[in-house]
Amino acid sequence: MAALRLSLVQIGKGTVGAELIEQVRDQRPAVLERLGVDLVYAGIAGRKSGVFDPGGIDLSRWKRTVEAGAGIDGAKILGQALGALSGMAILVDATAAEGMAGVYCDAFAAGLHVVTCNKKPLAGPLADYRRVREAARRKRRFWLYEVTVGAGLPVISTLRELLDSGDGLESVEGCFSGTLNFLCASLDGGGKFSEVLARARDLGYTEPDPREDLAGQDVLRKALILAREAGLPIEPGDARLEPFCPIDRRGDVAKFLAKTAAMDSGMKRLWQEAAARGIRLRYVASVDGACGAALKEVPADSALGRLSGPENIFVFKTRRYRERPLVVMGPGAGPAVTAAGAFGDILKVARAVAGTS
Ligand SMILES: NC(=O)c1ccc[n+]([C@@H]2O[C@H](COP(=O)([O-])OP(=O)(O)OC[C@H]3O[C@@H](n4cnc5c(N)ncnc54)[C@H](OP(=O)(O)O)[C@@H]3O)[C@@H](O)[C@H]2O)c1
Repeated sequence: MAALRLSLVQIGKGTVGAELIEQVRDQRPAVLERLGVDLVYAGIAGRKSGVFDPGGIDLSRWKRTVEAGAGIDGAKILGQALGALSGMAILVDATAAEGMAGVYCDAFAAGLHVVTCNKKPLAGPLADYRRVREAARRKRRFWLYEVTVGAGLPVISTLRELLDSGDGLESVEGCFSGTLNFLCASLDGGGKFSEVLARARDLGYTEPDPREDLAGQDVLRKALILAREAGLPIEPGDARLEPFCPIDRRGDVAKFLAKTAAMDSGMKRLWQEAAARGIRLRYVASVDGACGAALKEVPADSALGRLSGPENIFVFKTRRYRERPLVVMGPGAGPAVTAAGAFGDILKVARAVAGTS
């Protein structure tokens, strides 16, 4: 039987995007063998360079090929892709760009599926979210975004299956940020705030602008995504959000990072006072009819207090899981696990086009 071809057009080739391209490159023969689907990159773009080749980009030298396309940006590649590709293609959004809701609607209208790592189109104004969902439904296309909550952990799919099988969500509570948990656990161990933040960036855990993590904005987006998945019509402005720490929004990322050493002593004092009382500090989020997030005191021997590194925990209380909640826990940040989660979404589409499960 002839192989089915599934084209991928990816906007964003940074920490997560580059890892995803390499995972797909390495697994392509195995996917072809198992599913009979050939995953072919037809487009890759960043802000300032890109390439579109419906015949398939040679992934052994993709970085050089993209660099050679200097001046061709994501918008141009998308324009070409939407004109040339249809049902057997996926738009992959591995950016943290604003304004992608309209791009997704255009992709669905052109017959593409959409896999996204980008939380912003899911957690902006409710009207945008509903517009994208309706555009996907109208064309019967997949809109998959597992990695937007918990990176590679099965958080969205768990919630979806609970709801689709008739369960009712009462609450989700936990630590939804791998970056903030890495900071909390490193500060428990006596680390300096400025140094552990720089380390979290080096490890690829933080948002492109780490102030989005520190402001709680990234956690709020995850809470909104879960709330909306459960059918709650919540706007970003409805949430109760306290930042992880005070932050200066003026200037660019480099300027902010250069000033973080001034926060070391204040953060150290906060953590020392907590340790002296035998408790831990964790950034805890909740979804329970409303959304909220704040730095909270938790017992050191609780599940939240014992979290280490970039771990996340999601405690689902539902009608069926009320007495003993359903818990999803594990690393919730990092390029390898995040890219693997997006690859999982691509494979869901591949299995559907191949007619297998
Ligand atoms: N890191 C994690 O653990 C993690 C976990 C879950 C979800 N995510 C999400 O994954 C996404 C990517 O994160 P990352 O760490 O890979 O970020 P990153 O390293 O900063 O990469 C972002 C990429 O997006 C491109 N880009 C940004 N705006 C664009 C635009 N308007 N048009 C075209 N390309 C654009 C950039 O282009 P240039 O190459 O030209 O700069 C870059 O290639 C984010 O939405 C993040 O929230 C990350």
